[in-house]
Amino acid sequence: VSLDDLPTPALLLDAAALDRNISRMAAHARALGVALRPHVKTHKCVEIARRQRQAGAAGLTVSTLPEARACAAAGFDDLTWALPLAPPGIGPALDLVREGVTLRLVLDDEPTLSALEQAAVARGVRPHVWLKVDCGYHRAGVDPSSPAAWQLATRLGTSPAIRFDGLLTHAGHSYHAYGSEARAAVARAERDAVTRFAAGLRAAGVPVPSVSIGSTPSVTAATDLSGVDEIRPGNYALFDLTQVALGSCRLEDVAVSVLATVISHPAGAERAVVDAGALALSKDVGPPPEHAVLPGMGGVCAPAEGNSPSPDLRLETLSQEHGIIRPRVEGGLAGRLPVGSRVRILPNHACLVSACFDQFHVLRDGRVEASWPIARQR
Ligand SMILES: Cc1ncc(COP(=O)(O)O)c(C=O)c1O
Repeated sequence: VSLDDLPTPALLLDAAALDRNISRMAAHARALGVALRPHVKTHKCVEIARRQRQAGAAGLTVSTLPEARACAAAGFDDLTWALPLAPPGIGPALDLVREGVTLRLVLDDEPTLSALEQAAVARGVRPHVWLKVDCGYHRAGVDPSSPAAWQLATRLGTSPAIRFDGLLTHAGHSYHAYGSEARAAVARAERDAVTRFAAGLRAAGVPVPSVSIGSTPSVTAATDLSGVDEIRPGNYALFDLTQVALGSCRLEDVAVSVLATVISHPAGAERAVVDAGALALSKDVGPPPEHAVLPGMGGVCAPAEGNSPSPDLRLETLSQEHGIIRPRVEGGLAGRLPVGSRVRILPNHACLVSACFDQFHVLRDGRVEASWPIARQR
């Protein structure tokens, strides 16, 4: 199949860039002396997960139970469900554990731990549990300096009903850290928040088997992860314009793009409309203008050329199935982008964009060599 034959909008995956991204992160983890447990929420694709495993990944991270089920069905039996557990999730999660999957749970709430202990005993299973720690992102997780964190860690470390895996954190604030210095500083803070807490707990006699950290911007900048056992980056497999702006990767490393067709370009109008809207590109606005590669809802490239977004075109607005491209200078669309022509759009956020599609069309040497399903059910 050639690119010209694909119905649009279509999600394209550059196989060579994917392979490079996967092997570079695997080598980085080896050099840092940590295990790699990639987060598959980025791609929700067992074909990509297989390549990550071949490169040495030790287990996977998932964000939903359908992702966990898709990975388990493909033979991945060591998964961390890295979303804080709440009571309604306990039954479905323990069902998977009963089926023989090592599904490691994450929590930050003591009543939920009590409910989990009861349910686990009733079902005759002993699930693995991580304590979610807040390392400065201030989303989920216990504050490691709080008495409540110590109390919950101590309960986890001594509970006969579960297996305590240790401390897990995610420095999502790395997405505001532009440049390698700023990202490296977040990586150090991410590491220190959990390794110091682990050291304190261990000194007090609470066993902390492992420490798990990771976001793509922080781990790509990390140079010393002493005290850390595993990293869980996800976005690195695909990358996107946000990661380019952060300095986590180069433009040529972005492995996903959306192929779109121009469906309207009224004569003389300063706009062309493509069939990729918010349900193909998400509404992620990307980095603020002062940091963006090119401000806009994505980078507009020629379909069969490399990742070089046109500096004179701006993908300005997205509605459900429409994307509006405007020239950055008046008259800049004259003679360009006629109805039926095609563009390739580099996304602001690869994870949200992949979750908009049922499959990746895998490109090698300009040809579509395969299509890989995306397990995006909720
Ligand atoms: C808990 C957790 N771990 C790991 C990751 C992976 O981070 P990234 O997408 O920056 O690679 C995420 C992403 O949201 C996450 O929420």
